[in-house]
Amino acid sequence: MFYSLIRKALFRLNPEQAHEITFRQLKYIMHSPLQFMIRQSVNFKPTTCMGLTFKNPLGLAAGLDKDGECIDAFGAMGFGFVEIGTVTPRPQPGNEKPRLFRLVEAEGLINRMGFNNLGVDNLVENVKKAKYDGIIGINIGKNKDTPIEQGKEDYLICMEKIYSYAGYIAVNISSPNTPDLRLLQYGEALDDLLQSIKNKQHLLAEQQQKYVPVVVKIAPDLTEEEIIQISDSLIRHQIDGVVATNTTLDRNLVKGLRYSEEAGGLSGRPVQLKSTEIVRLLAKELKGQLPIIGAGGIDSLIAAREKLVAGASLLQVYSGFIYHGPKLIKNIVNYI
Ligand SMILES: Cc1cc2nc3c(=O)[nH]c(=O)nc-3n(C[C@H](O)[C@H](O)[C@H](O)COP(=O)(O)O)c2cc1C
Repeated sequence: MFYSLIRKALFRLNPEQAHEITFRQLKYIMHSPLQFMIRQSVNFKPTTCMGLTFKNPLGLAAGLDKDGECIDAFGAMGFGFVEIGTVTPRPQPGNEKPRLFRLVEAEGLINRMGFNNLGVDNLVENVKKAKYDGIIGINIGKNKDTPIEQGKEDYLICMEKIYSYAGYIAVNISSPNTPDLRLLQYGEALDDLLQSIKNKQHLLAEQQQKYVPVVVKIAPDLTEEEIIQISDSLIRHQIDGVVATNTTLDRNLVKGLRYSEEAGGLSGRPVQLKSTEIVRLLAKELKGQLPIIGAGGIDSLIAAREKLVAGASLLQVYSGFIYHGPKLIKNIVNYI
C-alpha cells in the first residue's frame, strides 16, 4: 500500500531522476530518527554458501547501488546480502542520458548506463562507513576507455583495493553496455582472465590471511555449448561461484512495447525464463561443484522458487524491487 503510493509518484518522474531522489531520501532517512520508515523485519533464514553465512538467501543485485552509498538502507529493508558496484578503477560518467527506460506493461527495464560510478577508492570509503553487518558483495568491471586487451588489469586493480572490505567479489564480464566486455566470456580470453584473478586471489589471501570468494557474472544470451565451455572454465580455475544472469539483448518478449527498441540490456519479467534456463543449464554442468546465484526477473515468491528449483543457492533482485518495493523481500524471504 505504502510503496504503491511512492511508486506512483516516482513513476511520474524519468527513471534516473526517480533513482536520484530515492537515493537522496534513503541517505537522509538512514541518518535520522525516521529510520523506522524503511526498516523491515524479515525472518532470519541463514544460508551458508561459499563458506559464508548469509542472513537469508535473497540479495540486492548489482547496479542499483553502484557506489555503495545506501548499503545500510538496503540492509535495513531485509536483504540477506547486498551487492554493490559495478565499480571501475577510475570514476567515469557512463553513457549519455537518457539511458534508463521503464517498460511498465512488461514490468521490465532497459538500461545502457555504462558503469557510471565514482571509482573504486570512493566505493571503499563508503564500505568503510557502512554499519550493515551482513555480507557485502563488490562487483567489479573495467573502465570504458581501457582497451579490452588490457581489461584484465582493471579487474586486478579493483581486486587489490576492495579485497579486505568485500564479503565476496563479483567479476562482471556480462554487461552489454561496455563495448566488447562480453567477449571476456569466451575461450582463451576467459581462461586468461580467470587465471590472473585466481592468482591474485591466492596472493591476497596469503597476504591478508583471509579468503574472499570470487564469483563470475554471466549473460543470459549464451548457447548451451557456451554454457558448457564457461562451466568447464569456472571449474578448472576453481572459481567460487557464478551469478546468472545479467540483462539480455533479446527483445522477443517485448516487441511493440514503448521503449522496446532502445539499446541496452533488458531486465525484469521479460528475462525471467531465459535466466532460469541458464541457471538450469549451469546446474547440469556444474553438478554442485560451485554454487549459482540466480538473478533475472525475480518478482514473486513463485519466480524465486523457480530459480531455486533450477539449481540456484542464492537469489538476487533488481527490477522486481523497483516494481514491487521492499514488500517483495518479505514475501520471498518469509515464505521461501
Ligand atoms: C539499471 C540497471 C543497472 C544495472 N547495472 C549493473 C551493473 O552495474 N553491474 C551488474 O553486474 N549488473 C547490473 N545490472 C543487472 C542486474 O544486476 C541484474 O543482473 C539484472 O537486471 C537481472 O535481474 P532483474 O531482472 O531482477 O533486474 C543492472 C540492471 C539494471 C536494471
